Amino acid sequence: MTRYLITSALPYINGVKHLGNLVGSMLPADVYARYLRGRGRNVFYLCATDEHGTPAELAAAEEGVPVSEYCKRQYDIQKAIYQRFDLSFDYFGRTSSAHNHRTTQYIYKSLRDRGYIDRRKIKQLYSPSDGRFLPDRYVMGTCPKCGDEQARGDQCDACLSLLEPTDLIKPRSAVSGSFDLKMRETEHLYLKLSAFEPLLREWVNKHSNWPLLTRSVALKWLNEGLRARCITRDLQWGVPVPEENMANKVFYVWFDAPIGYISAAQEWAESIGEPEAWRSWWESPTDVHYTQFMAKDNLPFHTVFFPAMLMGTGESWKQPDMIKAFNWLTYEGDKFSTRGNRGVFLDKAIDLFPADYWRWMLLAAAPESSDSSFTWSEFQNKVNKDLNDRLGNQVFRVLKLCAKQFGTIVPEGGVFGSEEVELEAKTGKLIAQIEQHYEKLEFRYLTQKIAELWSLGNNYFDRCVPWKKELKSERRAVVLRTSINLLRLCALVAEPIIPESSHVIQACLGEGKDAVDVWKEQKWIRAISSGRQFNVPESLFRKVSDREVAEFTMRFAGLSK
Ligand code: 2FM
Ligand code: ZN
Repeated sequence: MTRYLITSALPYINGVKHLGNLVGSMLPADVYARYLRGRGRNVFYLCATDEHGTPAELAAAEEGVPVSEYCKRQYDIQKAIYQRFDLSFDYFGRTSSAHNHRTTQYIYKSLRDRGYIDRRKIKQLYSPSDGRFLPDRYVMGTCPKCGDEQARGDQCDACLSLLEPTDLIKPRSAVSGSFDLKMRETEHLYLKLSAFEPLLREWVNKHSNWPLLTRSVALKWLNEGLRARCITRDLQWGVPVPEENMANKVFYVWFDAPIGYISAAQEWAESIGEPEAWRSWWESPTDVHYTQFMAKDNLPFHTVFFPAMLMGTGESWKQPDMIKAFNWLTYEGDKFSTRGNRGVFLDKAIDLFPADYWRWMLLAAAPESSDSSFTWSEFQNKVNKDLNDRLGNQVFRVLKLCAKQFGTIVPEGGVFGSEEVELEAKTGKLIAQIEQHYEKLEFRYLTQKIAELWSLGNNYFDRCVPWKKELKSERRAVVLRTSINLLRLCALVAEPIIPESSHVIQACLGEGKDAVDVWKEQKWIRAISSGRQFNVPESLFRKVSDREVAEFTMRFAGLSK
């Protein structure tokens, strides 16, 4: 039977992530993992913090703590937040782990030994007072395009121009502030990407089932022609380059980060006391289906750079079968900004509302076919109309009415009439559509169809008026029993998205703990038979008020633009 490997792009270590980061990789990956597990599949879902690179070093320096200490603290913070959002990683690792160091050096050495690494001498800015070469983000100065004095050597945040450190006017060291910078010659390592072009093209072409966004970015890169890419940096924090005369260099963060997918599996294997267990997932498996989730800016690294690294080893590492990418989620139509304090970051979000509220709303607004925007009014709309009105209220009124008329036991008697026959056909159709959207990773459609199923239950109940005294008791029993069955179905199909609420509903209905393959069983509105005991829940969701929308819109708007 196929096993399923799932990874979500590794979040950078520096700083708590925002809603856009969550919906752009971890949340959809988690929903997919939960869906597959629910169907009894063997799933291995991995993630980790991406800990190397200049941002981590700079953030640690700003706080005045060693980078390793900074990363450990941030790792614990991020891990705890993801737990609160019910992200069900099988392992959440760290790219600074000993495993990642070892595997990165191992992959580098295979590439070198097979002739895919170039050593090149280049001129780079050197800071005598810092005693080091400065990688691009370590150089600051005045932007030649807009005159902003805080431009960095790779980019100006004010006008978004891409820059080289040597473009900056009055360049200075971001470490010491020194203006005394010299151009000096130094050696760096380059991965000869162009050598892989034919293989990569063949690989991309073979995957005609990839979403348009994934394929178009991959082909754009391939068609523009691949150039050798520098894989070393002048930093202390990172994976050391195992070469003579390169003691002050580490690998470029994008070289070791994707290897973090493999080393997370290695860390996991060690944690369960079976250090070799990772191999069956990564080393030439024939029964593993691998899906990667990420935001669109990560696509070049996952469709070209990382696959080429693995191909270059000559070993049969597992390559992805599916790559699902997302566009940008904006915040009320503009960028999220840590510095500008704009947008909702995950630590704040989860203090305000339970995980299911965010999970449902974000998936419903996922930036799948284009960029989309988080707005508080849409948050209110999705929570109030979908979770409260369509689902929570239905659970409550069905169970309460049943308890009143027959006690807290699923009533017996009566047979299906034309309403139920029609309902069953409609339910079957919707379930098949929901299944397809899960399989095809179409998350917006998925939430729409689930909400339709919730409405179907409401409409059936309203049409059949089981509260009417004139109705025969047998008829009322059929409607209530069928409605209870629909509640079960509504909870089960939404479990991957709103696990906490789904479990509460299932527990109220006396559903067992075992996974039910709801798509296979075909007993959709007949699974629960009469005689089963149930509980009426207190309340499942609460509404988001207009006052809250106004207050949070103000609170998270950030500094004025
Ligand atoms: O863009 C990002 O957030 C990166 N940290 C993603 C890395 S994915 C993987 F390759 F490590
Ligand atoms: Zn500028």
